[in-house]
Order: sequence, then C-alpha cells, then structure tokens
Amino acid sequence: MAAFLLVIGVSFSVVTVSTIGLVGGSLFEDEARNGVTSVTQMAASLGERMQREPADALYTHLVEAARSSGGRLLVVDMDGKVQFDTFDQSCGTRLGLAEVYTLLRGEADSDYGFHLTDGQGRTQAASVLDGIIGRDIGRVWDGCFTAALVDGQGQRFGALVLVVSVQDAVDSLIFMRDRMLGVFGLALAAVLVMALLISRIVTRPVAELSAGIERMTKGDYQHRVHVPGKGEMAQLAAAFNQMSEQVHNLDEARNQFVSNASHELKTPLATIKILVQSMMYEDDMDPQLRREFLTDIDKEIDRLSSVVGDLLTLVHIDSHKLRLRREMMVFADTVRTTVKRLEPLAKKHGQTIETSIADSCEMFADPGKLSQVCYNIIENAIKYTPDGGRITVNLRRSGRDAVLEIADTGVGIPEEDLPHVFDRFYRVDKARSRETGGTGLGLSIVQQIVRLHAGSVTVQSTAGAGTTFTVQLPVK
Ligand SMILES: Nc1ncnc2c1ncn2[C@@H]1O[C@H](COP(=O)(O)OP(=O)(O)OP(=O)(O)O)[C@@H](O)[C@H]1O
Ligand SMILES: [Mg+2]
Repeated sequence: MAAFLLVIGVSFSVVTVSTIGLVGGSLFEDEARNGVTSVTQMAASLGERMQREPADALYTHLVEAARSSGGRLLVVDMDGKVQFDTFDQSCGTRLGLAEVYTLLRGEADSDYGFHLTDGQGRTQAASVLDGIIGRDIGRVWDGCFTAALVDGQGQRFGALVLVVSVQDAVDSLIFMRDRMLGVFGLALAAVLVMALLISRIVTRPVAELSAGIERMTKGDYQHRVHVPGKGEMAQLAAAFNQMSEQVHNLDEARNQFVSNASHELKTPLATIKILVQSMMYEDDMDPQLRREFLTDIDKEIDRLSSVVGDLLTLVHIDSHKLRLRREMMVFADTVRTTVKRLEPLAKKHGQTIETSIADSCEMFADPGKLSQVCYNIIENAIKYTPDGGRITVNLRRSGRDAVLEIADTGVGIPEEDLPHVFDRFYRVDKARSRETGGTGLGLSIVQQIVRLHAGSVTVQSTAGAGTTFTVQLPVK
C-alpha cells in the first residue's frame, strides 16, 4: 500500500506542478505581451504630446488612457521620481521597481515584472510558481509594464509605467490547483480502497497458509488450506496440503508401528508371566509339566528376541543407519547354504525342497543381508505350506539380473491381501500366524533389503494352490 501511495503521490505532484507551471507560464506571458504592447504604444504617443501639451491636459489624457486599459499609469523621470500618477498616490516618490531602472539605465526600451502587494502597499517581485504554491493569501497580484519616454529629438527623458492587476490569471491558476488537488484526493481515496482490496486478495492466502502451518506445528496434521485458482499461492497451498498429508500418514504409520510393536512384545511377555506364575504357586509340580512350561517359556523368549531383532533391523533401515557390507560374493552359495539351514525344518513337516541353480550369479552385495532375504522367504514357504508339501528354489540369470524364485504348494494368499504382504506387521490370517509364531515383519525386511540392493521383490499367489516369490537383483 505504501508503494502504491508513493507512486501515485510522486506522479501526481509531478503532473500538477508541471501542468500549472506550463499553463501559468503561458498565461503570464500573454499578460506580459499585451501589457508591454499597450504601454509601448501609449509611451510613443505620450512622448510627443508631453513636449507640446500643458500638464493638466496630459493628466486628463493619462487618466483616460489608464481607465481604458483598466490599470494605473505613472510617469517617472530620469531620476526615478514619479511625476504623474493616475491614482495620485506616489507623486514625488521614487519607484523601487527593477523594470523601471532597466529603462532609465538605457538597457531596454520596454520591460515588465510581476509583483505581490500586501495590505500595506508593500510590493515584492514574484514568480508564477509562487501562485501555485499559494503564497498569495491577503496579497494582490500586479503586472508592471514599462516603456521608455522619448522626445522629438530621440532623447530619453523618462518612463511610462502601466500597473495592471493580474489577479484574474492567478485566480484561475489557484482554481486549477484546487481542482487538481481535489482530483488527487479522489484518486488517493480510490487507490487506498484498491490497495486495501488488492492487499486483502494477496494476503488472505498467505494468512490462510500461515494459519495452516501454525495448526500443523501444534500437531493438527489433518487441516487442509483452501486457496482457489491456479496461481503461485494456489500451487503453494496444494504443495502444503500434500506435505501435511504425508506428515499425517507418517504420523499414523509411526503410531501404528509403536502400537503394533508393543502388542507383539506384550503377547509373549504375558504368556511368560502366566507360565512363571503357575510354576511359582505350584510347589510340587510334576517335573514333566515343569519341563513343558520351561520349554514354552524358552520359545516365548526366542520369539521376543526375534521380534526385537526384526524391529531393530527395521529401525536401522528407516533411519538410514543400515549400511550394506558389500563384497564380491556368489549368490548361488548363499542360496544353497540357506536351503541347507532350513532343510531340517522342512523335513520335520515332511516337505521337500527342490533347488535348481542355473547360474552362480556372482555379484557385489551384502551376503549376510541376502541370506536373510532367502531365509525369510523360504521359512515362510515352509510355514505356510501344509505337511508333505513341495517347495522349489530356482536361481537363474536374466540379462543383468539374478532372478531367485521361491515357490510352494501351500495355502496361498487371497488376492485382496497380496498388495499388503510387504507391509509391517501384516498377516493374512492373524490367528493362524500367531500359532506359527509370525509377527508380519519378515517380508517388510525382505523388501527393504532388496531395495537397498536396487532390486525388486514381487509375489504371485493363488489361494489354496501356492505362492511364488520372485527376487530380482542386479548383478554388477
Ligand atoms: N509363502 C507364503 N504362503 C502363504 N502366505 C504367506 C507366504 N508368505 C507370507 N505369507 C503371508 O504374508 C504374511 C506376512 O509374511 P511375513 O513373513 O512378513 O510375516 P510372518 O511370516 O507372519 O512373520 P515373521 O515376521 O516371523 O516373518 C504372513 O503372515 C502370511 O500370512
Ligand atoms: Mg515370515
């Protein structure tokens, strides 16, 4: 708004001053030309008459001439003393006017000047600009036009002074100035209103955005800002909304994660507590039962430590602290070793694992992490395949990728659950997985590790028929 006002103010002042200056200049020039022409004509006829006519005839003539020109006529001798004054006021005094002395000194034949005269008759030379700026209150504007008086021999013997009021010209300038000031006032008011409106339009979205940011800092991630249109502010608002949605999602995911993790830890702890309490209050416990209880406690502790291990791995990956310890490795060896480690478990369930390795797939990767990937997927295949089922592990090269396929003839995954199996804590059948000891973290760890290796993991499944996990890793 300040900028608006400054621009308007400066341009208006420039326009006003220059317009009034121009108009005033030409008005005063006209006055000066007319005044000088008539005083010169009068002086020419008077010069001759003054030689031959008596003083009172001359005086009458002067009074008439003054009346017809609407002003006052004075005759000044070579000493600057007033000899005749049609107003009969200044006879015998010296006129202190510059335009009289230029003539008496012989510097010009005619001259003029404008003066401000106050109530006491004090006169002061003035310029047109004084009229605009307004130093005219209580004063009267006069124009003084002078012409040299010359006798029949061409001898200069005095000056004729015509004093005419130029108040009309000054009044019209003042009127113009006031009109312009009025227009300026109106324009200023209009600009003020416009500036207010525009600043409202500009600042409202900013205010809305900052209110949104403030609410967000207070933890309200669901608030959205509304800025209509397609301008920069609208884009900013859209970006803000997107960001707050992401923060909201992150916040929810974090809460979900914490609550899921606590839940996963609580369940085995509760089981352990019950088992320990029953052992505490039963003094003469059957050793067989005691052993069973202790075995259960041991299992729960294993479960706890595996959950904690998984959680730690995920937290590490999330906080980007997990660094891959890459080295040249033979992926086929990792697959073989993992299968060997899990074979006893499969055997326990009467399952067979068929391994077919078509390529050694040498690559620069983290063998420990990749072994965890294989372990998690094959362990799932064993867990979610009924006894006597068949698991096939297949490793081959495809272009620049190593492709590992792990298929089973298990329970499969319903189509609606497929997109979620890599989510943290996601289990298709909650009750069944609890029995088998799953927490729903295994596949999300697999996905994170594969992503860290710039690879991908996908799943295909038919409920009741079996599942195939495909891991694709770039071979460098
Ligand atoms: N081969 C499979 N066949 C059928 N369902 C599977 C298979 N692999 C995974 N699932 C389903 O996907 C879910 C998520 O698997 P994930 O490995 O992440 O968790 P989990 O095995 O339950 O627990 P854990 O964290 O101990 O691995 C499982 O609970 C299971 O329902
Ligand atoms: Mg698992």
